[in-house]
Amino acid sequence: MNPFKFRNPTELLFGEGMIEMLPKRIPQGSKILLTFGGGSVKSNGVYDDVCRQLKEFDCVEFWGIEPNPKVETLRKAIELGKREGINFVLAVGGGSVLDASKLIANAIPSERDAWDLVLKGADRSVVTLPLGTVLTIPATGSEMNRGAVISSIKTQEKFGFWGEYPLFSILEPRYTFSLPAYQVACGIADSFVHVMEQYICRAGESPLMDRWAEGIMLTLIEQREAIQREPADYDARANFMLSATMALNGFIAMGITEDWATHRIGHELTALTGLTHGHTLVIVLPALLRVLGHGSKRAKLLHYAQRVWGITSGSEDECIDQAIDRTEAFFRSLGLETRLGERGIGPEVEAEIVRRFAERGTLLGENQDIDSAVVARILQVAR
Ligand code: NZQ
Ligand code: ZN
Repeated sequence: MNPFKFRNPTELLFGEGMIEMLPKRIPQGSKILLTFGGGSVKSNGVYDDVCRQLKEFDCVEFWGIEPNPKVETLRKAIELGKREGINFVLAVGGGSVLDASKLIANAIPSERDAWDLVLKGADRSVVTLPLGTVLTIPATGSEMNRGAVISSIKTQEKFGFWGEYPLFSILEPRYTFSLPAYQVACGIADSFVHVMEQYICRAGESPLMDRWAEGIMLTLIEQREAIQREPADYDARANFMLSATMALNGFIAMGITEDWATHRIGHELTALTGLTHGHTLVIVLPALLRVLGHGSKRAKLLHYAQRVWGITSGSEDECIDQAIDRTEAFFRSLGLETRLGERGIGPEVEAEIVRRFAERGTLLGENQDIDSAVVARILQVAR
């Protein structure tokens, strides 16, 4: 087990009726910037629920944060926040709204440009504004981590940003009932791959982390059908929501080495084609496992084959291949295509991704052994 530091200060307020805790969690006298996406919260009643709780507060609304939030949009929110003297940010929406709000909360008190914060890191010379969240889509874990992913229209790039943890996050499974089936599928995929990025790495680092990770994956596999079949199945949605949070809040990463190559390649796919985040991952991960599965990831894949898919017969190579096939089949059972060609993504996109990694000299993976040539092989296998 590697040495590690662990801290997660976010208070989770989970379940029916928790929205009523909202006014008690925001300091009296706060001037709140409410941040939203494209409007789903208006049609499913979440907006009304939030407004009902905030009657006593001075609020300013910012609408129009798009999926894969664009810095060009966020600059407008930051300008509004500065002009209005905002001192609290409340994000109401999915991972995109939450991520955007982490950047907004750091940028309002800062003099630096928002894209500069993304490229060079948050402004630590200022006090980042406190952030609360009301989550409407289980997927990213953004409600309980300090990560964010921000895009630029101008440069067609998408990069990570480290902000602050939300002070609190309200997770009300009923708010997810209105999700389109495609977003549910992408959310399950994203959560599953978050676990894989922290699990299919080096074998034997922590049996406890292994079992926690397997618990999340097995729960998602077991609950998938119920989550997808009946949007209003409260328990299935609650299990999904908690699984997604636990998949990326640091709890399964203690003392282990992480990968994240699938995400880095997936971000490029989104940046260049607009494909939804979770969908990029189910295309990249099986291909990445096929390229590395018999090498550096061999021992952990064998462990995964047995523990998650119950594969015990056949040679080691056969067990590994079966585990990868079962993983891809699971993604396809979500209703998602798992090959670049099926989404009309051609060699010119592959070439641009490889060019970017080569130019940046990026090395990915738990062993830092995935260079641009390996990325090229992964994309070829994903065709
Ligand atoms: O914009 P609105 O109208 O709200 O519609 C959204 C959006 O179109 C809709 N939606 C959300 N909740 C809904 C709903 N529609 C109906 N009913 C509801 N309850 O869903 C669409 C997608 O929303 P979005 O917020 O983009 O989805 P998600 O939560 O998957 O977030 C994706 C973003 O998070 C980043 C991704 O890269 C991407 O930019 N990630 C953030 C991470 C983090 N902070 O740790 C880690 C992840 O790996 C990921 O990279
Ligand atoms: Zn993700």
